[in-house]
Amino acid sequence: MLMKPLIAANWKMNKNVEEAISFIDEFKELVKNVKNTEIVIFPAFTSLCKLKKLVENTNIKLGAQNMHFEEKGAFTGEVSALMLKDFCEYVILGHSERREFFNEDNFLINKKLIAALNTSLRPILCVGEDLEQRKKGKTKEIIENQLKNCLKGVDKNQILKMDIAYEPIWAISKGNPNHKAATAEDAEEGHKLIRNFIKNMFDEHIAKNIRIIYGGSMKPENARELLSMPDINGGLVGNASLDAKSFAEVCGVKI
Ligand code: PGA
Repeated sequence: MLMKPLIAANWKMNKNVEEAISFIDEFKELVKNVKNTEIVIFPAFTSLCKLKKLVENTNIKLGAQNMHFEEKGAFTGEVSALMLKDFCEYVILGHSERREFFNEDNFLINKKLIAALNTSLRPILCVGEDLEQRKKGKTKEIIENQLKNCLKGVDKNQILKMDIAYEPIWAISKGNPNHKAATAEDAEEGHKLIRNFIKNMFDEHIAKNIRIIYGGSMKPENARELLSMPDINGGLVGNASLDAKSFAEVCGVKI
């Protein structure tokens, strides 16, 4: 693996600017000795500007939770990759909540992914099956279909400039701290499947070096076990990232 593991905080629609600032004030002290892990926070758009100044000269990076695929134009309410570049380095694309509540499909996500890569914003592409699909034994088919369609037109010079998150929808907490994560074995199986797809689409070197991170109820209690699996290169943490101490604990696993 060429890159450090990545631990990312997906805050979703939580924290106003004041709350975001007080999180960072506490959190940056807690993780200041973390060297072997890349830490990225994905706040709401509204906090990016303020947080940019706060994380200067720290080991914390920033990302956005969504973007539009056009550079500019008559798209009321949207934000482009070019605009985000002023504030952050990363963007989450294809999160299951965007697919479910905002009707985003693989075709749209692909357009956003290409736009992000062309703007040198680093995308984290989310894929994963829901419970029904899993019960029907369709996990492989669903994930491969998402990857095939979302990665259309991405070439071998670009694929290592992005990350992939395996987020089985049935494991996402939806804010419930007691929700069960995937077992480390089930998560590893999903990651293997993704890595194998990347190997077939690109080559062995790329498959070895692409960062594939796990998302779905990751928290201090299970992070060590999940992150010890050979194909899990980090985590996308929702609910447990809202608390500075608990997110710092997850960030410190690979210290
Ligand atoms: P969760 O969210 O950690 O609260 O399950 C993860 C995600 O949806 O990215």
